[in-house]
Formats: sequence, C-alpha cells, structure tokens
Amino acid sequence: MGKYKLRCINCGKVYEPDEVEYTCPVCGDRLGTLEVIYDYEDIKVQREEFSKFENIWQFEKILPIEKGSYRTHLHVGGTPLYNMPKMAEELGIEKLTIKYDGTNPTASYKDRASAIAITKAYEKGYDTIYCASTGNAASSLAGLSAPTELKTYIFLPASAPIAKISQLFIYGANVLPIDGTYDEAFDISMEIGKEKGWYCRNSAINPYLLEGKKTGALEIAVQSDWEIPDYVFVSVGDGTVISSFYKGFYDFYKLGLIDKIPKIIGVQAEGAAAVKRVFDKGEPFLPDDIETNTIADSISVGKPRDVVKACKYVKKSGGYFISVSDEEILSAIQELAIKSGIFAEPAGATSYAGLKKIANTLGKNAKVSIVVTGNGLKDVKAIEKFVNLKKIKPDEVREVLKNEN
Ligand SMILES: Cc1ncc(COP(=O)(O)O)c(C=O)c1O
Ligand SMILES: [Zn+2]
Repeated sequence: MGKYKLRCINCGKVYEPDEVEYTCPVCGDRLGTLEVIYDYEDIKVQREEFSKFENIWQFEKILPIEKGSYRTHLHVGGTPLYNMPKMAEELGIEKLTIKYDGTNPTASYKDRASAIAITKAYEKGYDTIYCASTGNAASSLAGLSAPTELKTYIFLPASAPIAKISQLFIYGANVLPIDGTYDEAFDISMEIGKEKGWYCRNSAINPYLLEGKKTGALEIAVQSDWEIPDYVFVSVGDGTVISSFYKGFYDFYKLGLIDKIPKIIGVQAEGAAAVKRVFDKGEPFLPDDIETNTIADSISVGKPRDVVKACKYVKKSGGYFISVSDEEILSAIQELAIKSGIFAEPAGATSYAGLKKIANTLGKNAKVSIVVTGNGLKDVKAIEKFVNLKKIKPDEVREVLKNEN
C-alpha cells in the first residue's frame, strides 16, 4: 500500500485517512467528495511487475488498502482488452480497443469498487455494509460480500432490471426495493446508513471506490503494452467510473510509467445527461439536477453524486461529454454484438454509441479505447424489440426457411 491522504475536490483541504470517513465535513456530501492522493515518491513500481490478466490486487502498491487485510478470492479485474482492427477501419480511426468488463464475477465494472469497499469495511471493523444502486453496484456488492461475514443491505429502485434484482436474492442480501428513483433510493440509504452505523458503499461518498475502479485504466495501460490511447470513451451516470479513468492514468503518469493521459470522453444518455449539462455550463462546476428518462437504467441518474470530480477530471484530460439517444444506444448494442461478439447492457454499449457518433471528428490517426461496463444478460428486456418469438410448428420449419432464402 502506498501512503495516502484524502483531499477535498472542492476546497482542497487535505485530511489524514483516519480524520474523515467519507466526504469533506466543510463542503458536504455533494461538493466535497474526496480524492485519494499518494506520496508518489514513496511508491516504487516498474512496468515489468504488472501482467495482462492478473486481477486487481496486482496494483496493491497503488491502492489505499493495508497489507494482509481481507481480499476477495473472486477474480475481479484482469478483464480482456480486445483489439478490433476491422471496426477501427470502418470508423475511420487508427486503432480501436474494447475493454470488456462483463466478465467480472457479477458481470459488471462495479466489482472493482465493491472489492475495495469490502476490504475497507473489514479494515475499519464494520460488520454491515450497504449501498444504493441503479442495479450493478447492488449485485456486485451482494455477490462479493456473500462469502464474507458482512451483512449487506441494498437499496435500489424496484424498477431495476429483474436479472440484477435476482442476483441480490440469490446472493442472500437484504434487499430494500424502493418505490422511487435511484436518486431517491440513494438519499434514503444515506439517512438509514448513518442512523444504523453501517459502512457506506455509495458512489462518490466513499472515496475508496474510485481507487478500485481506476484499475480498469491501469489494465488498459498494461494490456496496450504501454501505448496509451488518445481517447477513452466511458458511459456516465454518477460520474465515478469516468473519474476513475482519469485517476488511473494520472497515477501511472505521476509514477513515471506512462507519458500521457488520454482525453477522457464521457457519454451520457440524452434523457439523463445531467453531468454533460454541468460540464457544458463551465466552471465553477455546480450540481444541477434533472429528471431522467432513458432505457439505459444503469446510467439513469438525475442527481449525479460525482459530478464535480467528473467535470474537473474530464476537463484536465482535455476531454468532454457527449450524449446519445436511446435509439442510438439500442442500435449500438446490436452492432457491437455483431461486429465484436460482445453483448453489452444498454449502459455498456453507450460508450460505443458515443464513439460511432463522433468517430469522424477524431482524425484518422486516433487510437481509441471504449469501455464496456456491463454484460448484456443483465437487461434483456431492453433489447426485446430484436427478439422474434413467433412460434413455428415443426412441420413448418422447411417452409419458413424456404421463404427466407
Ligand atoms: C454498466 C454501467 N455502466 C456505467 C455506469 C456509470 O458509472 P457511474 O455511475 O460511476 O458514472 C454504471 C453505474 O451504475 C453501470 O452500472
Ligand atoms: Zn472541502
């Protein structure tokens, strides 16, 4: 573990890790999310010590966890980075790689954060952990905590896709299906969590989650043989995953392992583009909440909790935010599946929808990575329009095939 401190993204005040648990007491939960900052001089790492398919714990020296504390045995991270030359050619760019995180234990990117949250819960001596979630952080926390002694409480909108909700029950979590939005589930979870003294695995509030998530960026660097892409496209809800991509590359840059940070491009659903709205208004980045409407349930966030950090980091990277319609997301799901063999849930394919939309502005020399954050089996209802279940009697099959030819 590298020595670290916690710094408020808003006022810049620096805290010792045992001085604050979650957010800056001066700036509050919304503005004062914390960044983990390391003493980079103190961390000795070399490129050679990282390998392409190891799990997240290979980055232990740049994670805020104690030596010898609890580590999940499940294989979190070490997910594939696929090189797709034909797709790159069709998009008119030099290189396209796809970071596919649907292969994580509970099938989404969120496992990277839950793994760290559980480690921290043990280090800090909690016996109960909770989160509010659009669905994936929930199933991830439920899955990774199932084989531990931690009690787990999950707050999520009852409207979340049934596959994600089913994961919760199979993993034996205590489920609180909220009759309301994710934003409402989040607010009530914070109140109850404080009242009960449970450990909070809520996006943005818990500063350590982003450190787990940044391992995706570290893996892209390692798996690209240290040839850092020019652009990384990430789908955005609360803004923690996208912030983590900047932070991962930043850490490697500060450690002298890479010589540039990619432009980070945030892709939001048009019906839930709350972070983009704040970014486009410019600095100072202040929360400005909206009502949402999109099929991409995972990123249907109207009150993004990491909006300040996401905007600051994306700006520092030289990137920006774009938005795509639900129709663009749906066609991106099918096109990605057919061209790459990767079946993504709506929020997972949103990054590809964004790339398709603006690929022609990036230049023919552009090297691009997109992050596919969730497995398509998580939400099959979203793609039901592609499914044709018109029944055929066995003796009609030949006739049907004849007509098709
Ligand atoms: C599949 C998927 N993609 C992207 C995101 C966006 O992450 P964030 O809310 O940190 O912006 C989420 C968050 O739930 C997700 O589940
Ligand atoms: Zn502050």
